[in-house]
Amino acid sequence: MRIELTVNGERRDADVWEGESLLFALRERLGLPGSKNACEQGECGSCSVFLDGELVCACLVLAAQADGHDIVTVEGLGAGEELHPVQQAFVDAGAVQCGFCTPGLVVAVADLLDRVPHPSDDEIRESLSGNLCRCTGYSKIFDAVRIAAERA
Ligand code: FES
Ligand code: FES
Repeated sequence: MRIELTVNGERRDADVWEGESLLFALRERLGLPGSKNACEQGECGSCSVFLDGELVCACLVLAAQADGHDIVTVEGLGAGEELHPVQQAFVDAGAVQCGFCTPGLVVAVADLLDRVPHPSDDEIRESLSGNLCRCTGYSKIFDAVRIAAERA
C-alpha cells in the first residue's frame, strides 16, 4: 500500500507492506536511519519518534497507521547543521558511548523538557524509564538532561 506522511517537515510517500512498522519504513524506505532498532518490541526506546507531537516507539506503530500523520525523528530535531540543545547537551556531558540508545534518548529528553522544563531527578528517572542504555550507567545522561534544562 502507498502511504503519504509528513516527516521532519517534508511531505513524503512510500510503498509499504501492511504489516511493516513505521520504524522499518523510516529506516529502510525513507532513508532515515537515526531511529534505531534494538528490540522491535517496545522495550528499549531506541526507536523513539514524535507522532503528531506524541512520543511513541516507532517499532510499535504500523507504517500504515502513520499515513496522513506528522512524524519527527531525531534527524528533524536540530535546525539545519545546528544541533538541538538536547543533542548538544549529550555531547557536552559526554553522555554517548556506543551511541545506540542515544537517538531515542535525545527524542525522549526533548519530549520531557517540553513538558517539564526543569525536571527533578525522579521526573527524569520516570520519564526515561522506557529508554535503555547498556553503556553509560545513566549518570552522564542525567547530566545531559540537567545541562539542557539549565540552558533552556
Ligand atoms: S526498537 Fe522500538 S522500543 Fe526497542
Ligand atoms: S551508549 Fe551504548 S547503549 Fe547507551
